[in-house]
Amino acid sequence: MTEVFDPIRLQQFWPRPAKPRPIVIFGAGSIVGDAHLPAYRKAGFPVAGIFDPDLAKASALAEQWGTTAFASESEALQTAGAIFDLATPPAAHAAILSKLPEGSFALLQKPMGSNLDEATEILRLCRARGIKAAVNFQLRFAPMMLALKDAIAKGHLGEIVDFDAWLALATPWGLWPFLKGLPRIEIAMHSIHYLDVVRDLLGNPLGVHAKTIGHPNHDVAQTRTAAILDYGDRIRCALSINHDHDFGRRFQACEFRISGTNGAAYLKLGVNLDYPRGEPDELWIKTEGASDWVSVPLEGTWFPDAFANRMANLQRFASGEDDRLVGAVEDGWQTMALVEAAYQSSASPATPLSPLPKE
Ligand SMILES: NC(=O)c1ccc[n+]([C@@H]2O[C@H](COP(=O)([O-])OP(=O)(O)OC[C@H]3O[C@@H](n4cnc5c(N)ncnc54)[C@H](O)[C@@H]3O)[C@@H](O)[C@H]2O)c1
Repeated sequence: MTEVFDPIRLQQFWPRPAKPRPIVIFGAGSIVGDAHLPAYRKAGFPVAGIFDPDLAKASALAEQWGTTAFASESEALQTAGAIFDLATPPAAHAAILSKLPEGSFALLQKPMGSNLDEATEILRLCRARGIKAAVNFQLRFAPMMLALKDAIAKGHLGEIVDFDAWLALATPWGLWPFLKGLPRIEIAMHSIHYLDVVRDLLGNPLGVHAKTIGHPNHDVAQTRTAAILDYGDRIRCALSINHDHDFGRRFQACEFRISGTNGAAYLKLGVNLDYPRGEPDELWIKTEGASDWVSVPLEGTWFPDAFANRMANLQRFASGEDDRLVGAVEDGWQTMALVEAAYQSSASPATPLSPLPKE
């Protein structure tokens, strides 16, 4: 029997490990300062140090956060009992993984390599070297998403039959210099979070129809995507993503609408509306028989709390406190396969229209 809906009782926090291992971070880029380090400090996870080939950058960040900048990669690799946290550009992941001690625990920033071939190389490397690795698709672990999953698991929405993602906003792509000139941007770097969350909620789709394009006002390869994920005849799933809606805040949006057979959820993903400062996330739920939508009080936001929850599961898996590594590389590979299929679909012609009859 479905329990009575109580927004306060929804689980939106991942339990912490009893004895967290030291974290060794590779990469001293913007995401580490914006999310990894704030999350680990908030969660009380020890950071052993940071390695970046740009030693001055690593030193400045380490000093700011009261940790060590490793003088060399080999020094970073020697940290005993570490969790290796790769916050590096996707093309750098495989080379670092190939040097980690066999049997290590690692977290790889998304995407899992630049494309499906690199994801396959990463998967093979992890299997061959016994590395237990997860991909940092941390939106799954955002307080609003954990609460949503708990509400679904408790039956408050019934069978999920609809998923809509709608983004109309202005994303500051210039914040990520490593993106310059890359052939795959929007789906591979951004909507990949949504595709991963959809897979987490609904499983693998049968296939995908997608179109992803750039914008005449700039040279970022793609910034606008429309996609339909085919889940057969019971579930409708569509993503409408426009990073070029740069006309002021009033009609901008970053939201999911998830409907079930006897309830629905609305989520606002605040971070993207003013990245990386962000607005608060929101989760609203309407259950069957309720007169109105209920706002779920959230304890935390996607950035940085999801990063702490993501790391907590990996830490607890390493210590044996969790028996499942959520979003392990086997799972991450399947999100990469969905991304690959979306790019293939986008490059393929759509169903053409019949020409107007001449007579
Ligand atoms: N929501 C998210 O999960 C999220 C958000 C932003 C970025 N990212 C991902 O995080 C990664 C880093 O993004 P960023 O914005 O910090 O990029 P950035 O360009 O600001 O920083 C990347 C850093 O990695 C360093 N680096 C390169 N090769 C390295 C190596 N072999 N060892 C150690 N350091 C190395 C570079 O010197 C640079 O300082 C990317 O894969 C990106 O896709 C994820």
